[in-house]
Amino acid sequence: MTATVDPHAELNSLLDRVEEGMQENLVPIEIFSNDAIFDAEMRRIFARCWVFVAHESEIPSPGDYVLRRIGLDPVIVARDESGSVNVLSNYCRHRATMVCQVDQGNASHFRCPYHGWIYKNNGDWLGAPHRNRAYRKLDPKQWGLLRAPHVDSIHGLIFASLSPDAPTLRDFLGEATVWMLDALFGLHPDGMRVMAPPDRMRVRTDWKSAAENAGGDTYHADTTHISLDDIGLAAKLPQLNDHARHYDLGSGNTFIGHGFVDWLGSDFWYWGYPRELTSQFVTSGLDDAQRSMLDSHPPITGTLFPNFSYLRFPGSPDPETKPLAVYTSIRLWQPIAPGVQELWNWQLSWNCSPKEYSEACYDAGQNAFGSSGVFEQDDTVVWEGLPQAARSVFAQKNHMMANYQLATEGMSEQSKDANWQGPGISRITGFGECNQMSFYRRWLKEMRQPGQQ
Ligand code: FES
Ligand SMILES: [Fe+2]
Repeated sequence: MTATVDPHAELNSLLDRVEEGMQENLVPIEIFSNDAIFDAEMRRIFARCWVFVAHESEIPSPGDYVLRRIGLDPVIVARDESGSVNVLSNYCRHRATMVCQVDQGNASHFRCPYHGWIYKNNGDWLGAPHRNRAYRKLDPKQWGLLRAPHVDSIHGLIFASLSPDAPTLRDFLGEATVWMLDALFGLHPDGMRVMAPPDRMRVRTDWKSAAENAGGDTYHADTTHISLDDIGLAAKLPQLNDHARHYDLGSGNTFIGHGFVDWLGSDFWYWGYPRELTSQFVTSGLDDAQRSMLDSHPPITGTLFPNFSYLRFPGSPDPETKPLAVYTSIRLWQPIAPGVQELWNWQLSWNCSPKEYSEACYDAGQNAFGSSGVFEQDDTVVWEGLPQAARSVFAQKNHMMANYQLATEGMSEQSKDANWQGPGISRITGFGECNQMSFYRRWLKEMRQPGQQ
């Protein structure tokens, strides 16, 4: 008789430890680089959740497409002739060669480079070489590219889910998150557009470290980034935490806001956008709580579970010679392998903004969070420790845990904002880590989904 081996034993025991550790706001380091965890993340999170794939302005016309990934799956995000957006598996149905190998372009169809099967930009099978002599009996309906069953967008942000059973995008995000996105991206009816193709850089960090940092880590700013204050690129950085708010919208979606006016002065109302631009914003559709948040503590960063983040901040490539400009970046923390991610960074601009101002925003954003940006370089280096520790026998034997105990009652200056009228919770704190724990609770919930392989 052979003993039955539970293929999920290692995973389940690790998830048990995560659940146990989280009671004390501790997270076992192994989850930041572990084969079983990574494999389960692909199956239970990235094959199920709604994942950001593109901005509508990247593919404005019929035939436009970009190549993206959902988890490890390469996909083509293509607008077809009817104007619909299709998210297609980039694996040829013949022998799985990558059908499209050019990052972006305009095409009515895609031709596989191996044997030449051709697909329309909506994924339909169109033909094959030597059709009269080869594949005479092939049923075209059966052999189109695999398609994401759900594609939808909100404020120009296109998301897709690979699961037929997924809820609607709005239900997945939750009302509170839609409320936040309306406040951030719905300020002008003409919306925003991407300024350029995304920067991409591969870094030896786990995707979760980046996602939770963007959703809640104000504590690191005046240590990790202090050199920017030293050289005059980020004025009054040490005072930043005196003016922070942590917004926890539930479901692991969290944002950080800052009281710019109190912190940096009245020029920084609405992040510091020039009055010519803010006077064009249409906030009449927002509710009082949204307007009050934008007035006093507009969100500067945030994360939507699993791996999408937002960033809006005033900056300049050279404060001595160039005026400040408010950049908006959206980013994707793309898992590549255990402990390795690709960081994708898009710069956005308001369509109603003058060209020169948009270009200044782009320069400021690239200087801070482009692939050689001063902030980005700081962050990606400090996140490298966790995945290394995750593989350390010494650290594992000592049950090393990542510490998020700033979420623990009484550990840090932190109180609920009694004046907050928006959804979820707003906390007055520059140090709390309830947002990060909210992210990890959602992560654990998804990893524990019953019936998942
Ligand atoms: S692998 Fe694509 S046509 Fe053969
Ligand atoms: Fe940072």
